[in-house]
Amino acid sequence: MQPRHFTSLLDLSQHELRTLIQRAIQLKNHRDPDFQPLKGKVLAMVFEKSSTRTRISFEAGMAQFGGSAIFLSPRDTQLGRGEPLEDSARVISSMVDCIMLRTHSHETVNTFARHSRVPVINGLSDLLHPCQLLADMQTYFECRGDIAGKTVTWIGDGNNMCHSYINAARQFDFKLHIACPIDYRPVQSIVDAAGDRVAFFNSPELAAKQANLVVTDVWASMGQEDEQKKREMAFQDYQVNAQVMQAANPDALFMHCLPAHRGEEVSADVIDGAQSVIFQEAENRLHAQKALLEFLICR
Ligand code: CP
Ligand code: NVA
Repeated sequence: MQPRHFTSLLDLSQHELRTLIQRAIQLKNHRDPDFQPLKGKVLAMVFEKSSTRTRISFEAGMAQFGGSAIFLSPRDTQLGRGEPLEDSARVISSMVDCIMLRTHSHETVNTFARHSRVPVINGLSDLLHPCQLLADMQTYFECRGDIAGKTVTWIGDGNNMCHSYINAARQFDFKLHIACPIDYRPVQSIVDAAGDRVAFFNSPELAAKQANLVVTDVWASMGQEDEQKKREMAFQDYQVNAQVMQAANPDALFMHCLPAHRGEEVSADVIDGAQSVIFQEAENRLHAQKALLEFLICR
């Protein structure tokens, strides 16, 4: 049987994604230590970049389900010394039950998926961060119910998180209003594929009008540290602050995948304010990915 992968939100059907979110909520609310569907199963976690949430949620999730996880940094494996991705994928997948990768190039995730005998999960690439969207959608469903037909506002960089929000707009059927500097727009083919679910606005306030959820992310992602100063200039008018939240629906939520820079992409009063659900969102990485691991491995 061919393995199912989760390199992108588009790898699962709309129905599968919705079922997964409901399963995540169920696992969170009815934690049963005796339920160990992944007993004896092993997850390999390949990290080219730093991580707090992704590493801990996958490792804790595997342990809670009776399995285990192996953390692999480039220093620990021959991947760091240039062993071909194809060979590495074949070897690693012959020994474990699932592989999670956090990579610079999205093509690394795709190459692994093509050569792996077991499910491959994208734990963040330069293009996409689909696991974060599972947690974000779970959080919205928990706080406000179905997101279908709602308006979500993305403010800031057209980055991996923005791309995954565009894919989520397709899969969960919401409108995504984007405000970002012209030079930092998301990849056009991803935008085009979403059709009229995505619209661009000239200012954060206009984009946030009547929004049910406002989301942002860092101005410089991992690997873009050298551009920090340049980006601070480019994004100075793209902070989510009280004025932006004022434009949104009064019961709008604020989300951020974290780590965040208070005073840059978001003001402290917003991220630490009543509309912010960032810690629920972070915790849901655990529950959503447990549902994902169960879906992919227990087929
Ligand atoms: N949001 C997120 O992926 O966090 P980490 O970089 O800590 O894994
Ligand atoms: N866009 C950020 C997300 C971090 C979780 C990055 O890629 O660094």
